[in-house]
Amino acid sequence: MAKTESVVANATALRKQIEHHNYRYYVLDDPEVPDAEYDRLMQQFQALEALYPELVTWDSPTQRVGGTPLSEFAEVPHAVPMLSLNNAFAEADITAFDQRVRNILGDAEVEYAAEPKLDGLAISLLYENGVLIRAATRGDGLRGEDVTQNVRTIHSVPLHLQGDDYPSTLEVRGEVFMPRAGFQRLNQSQEKKGEKIFANPRNAAAGSLRQLDARITAERPLEIFCYGVGLVQGGTIPPSHFDMLQAFRRWGLRVCVEIKLVLGAHGCLDYYREIGAKRSSLPFDIDGVVYKVNASSAQAELGFVAKAPRWAVAHKFPAEEEMTRVLDIEVQVGRTGALTPVARLEPVKVGGVVVTNATLHNQDEIERKDVRIGDTVVVRRAGDVIPEVARVVTTLRPDDARVFVMPTLCPVCGSQVVRADGESVARCTAGLICPAQRKEGMKHFAGRRAMDIDGLGDKLIDQLVDAKLVHDLGDLYSLQFPALVALERMGEKSAQNLLAAIEKSKSTTLARFLFALGIREVGEATAQVLARHFGTLQAVEQANIEQLQTAPDIGPVVAAHIVNFFSQAHNRNVIEKLIAAGITWPHAEARSHAQPLAGQTFVLTGTLTTFSRDDAKAALESLGAKVSGSVSSKTSYVVVGTDAGSKLEKAQALGIKILTEPDFLQLAGVKSSNI
Ligand code: IVH
Repeated sequence: MAKTESVVANATALRKQIEHHNYRYYVLDDPEVPDAEYDRLMQQFQALEALYPELVTWDSPTQRVGGTPLSEFAEVPHAVPMLSLNNAFAEADITAFDQRVRNILGDAEVEYAAEPKLDGLAISLLYENGVLIRAATRGDGLRGEDVTQNVRTIHSVPLHLQGDDYPSTLEVRGEVFMPRAGFQRLNQSQEKKGEKIFANPRNAAAGSLRQLDARITAERPLEIFCYGVGLVQGGTIPPSHFDMLQAFRRWGLRVCVEIKLVLGAHGCLDYYREIGAKRSSLPFDIDGVVYKVNASSAQAELGFVAKAPRWAVAHKFPAEEEMTRVLDIEVQVGRTGALTPVARLEPVKVGGVVVTNATLHNQDEIERKDVRIGDTVVVRRAGDVIPEVARVVTTLRPDDARVFVMPTLCPVCGSQVVRADGESVARCTAGLICPAQRKEGMKHFAGRRAMDIDGLGDKLIDQLVDAKLVHDLGDLYSLQFPALVALERMGEKSAQNLLAAIEKSKSTTLARFLFALGIREVGEATAQVLARHFGTLQAVEQANIEQLQTAPDIGPVVAAHIVNFFSQAHNRNVIEKLIAAGITWPHAEARSHAQPLAGQTFVLTGTLTTFSRDDAKAALESLGAKVSGSVSSKTSYVVVGTDAGSKLEKAQALGIKILTEPDFLQLAGVKSSNI
């Protein structure tokens, strides 16, 4: 078809829009338009390119799918070597580092840029006149591999830079990594296809980037954060590391938002603790933080020793993976009767905590990982998650290693164990007759997010059930002082406190109560939906599968579990007993419930005095607001309690409305009991 000027203008305009949205989405993590609008623009643009192939350029937004497979990667010499960092583990190493820096610079206090140490692989991106002409791995630091085709498929890597103040030759350095969520999805899909499972996001990122067929890389969820430069010619970059990163952002390069300026060793150590505390909630893996002297002139003065700069240091977190031996594999019975195999381990310190058990999830997992009793295994403990066996070191397998067999009878009550078709979990069929299920159900019921019975911990519940003082949940509310104090390790004060806590728990919310019952698949969010949608316990109890599915996000599986739960006489009896004991909640009105905060996103930070964090969240959600864990430009309000940290700073930087606790109470106009 003949191409007209207006076609070219149209294509250029569309392309500009798509590039703008790519920048907002991939680089700033702050999309401006809904995905559907983006898809529409992309489709229009693809249609134009299909009609007029001469419009397709090497840097078109459609050209991120990978080209012809290579037979090998070409070698690339690095004009400026890609160095590594010296590692430090102890606080004393950091004070010593800062001391050395101050001695050389003769400064009293030094400003550092503090950054997360990303657990991916280093990459060099070479831009000539703003155009990405080559991407290379680090290799041995002097020579790497040309992975340009692969890197071009990573959406957060700009194919050309924005603006006009970048040097004509600019080699940007950064880390390619795979976010945790993408890693999980990738492994799930690999498993379905019967393909290689990756041990961790780092390996997955490395394996994905070093594909000779870039079409495979294109399907992998890789991302980049840029943190440095190599060769710079024909122009200058700002005279400090932090300002350079700001320039990167303007040029369209993605930079981690957690990077901060800090002062002195104490500032570095504060940052280490701050990032350590949020490590498990970051969407990507990090293995420490990096401190870099901020001023470029100071960096030049400090120079390098051997293969690492004297102006930077990596402060690593304690290792999250260690090796140990599986002494035995035992089975635990959970609240829903699920049998979970647990590896009993030779004690080993992982990430600063002694680990003696690790979950093996289920029979399929054991088979997939081929874990046997006597094996040496790698144990992984990431953040707050339960330690798990990551993999077996098969080369260290002893001849007498034993294969684990799932029992056919419940190890606690001796009832039949069944594994339903298509399910990975084997379950004890005894229901609440099984003491293990009763105990676990009670632990869940008493939990902080459920009935919140302070002082009713796991050990005490075991004692109460074993001593036959409580048989079902309802019995908790008829516990008497004399029976309690007679228990081992129970003082008079504790018994009184416990009774007071049990009494206090009687006043709750419908959502908490529904969650506390422990209906399968009914988590906190689902319980809230049910409470909000149906308004009364009776309405939830009486709803059939179809009616339940009229509530938002309730699918057929959850609906069936709910109906099944309420159809069982023993469950109904327990509920009756609980209500008779005096459990109450304010009656919300179904559906007519006003949602004045619909469409608003709140972030809570610091400690509130009149609310627990959970209750504040519940109150906001009941008014239709969304509550998010992190501040972005999409945040409507940040509610600030005492000791608010970096979220407050970020909100101030972004100009987001800040609410103090009294402001918040007024705006919400609610008490926590309103749901
Ligand atoms: S700066 C000379 N910054 O750590 C400066 N590296 O041990 C070298 N890494 O090869 C790199 N996060 O793969 C720097 N924020 C960060 C980093 C980082 C991760 C990796 C990078 C490098 C290795 C050095």
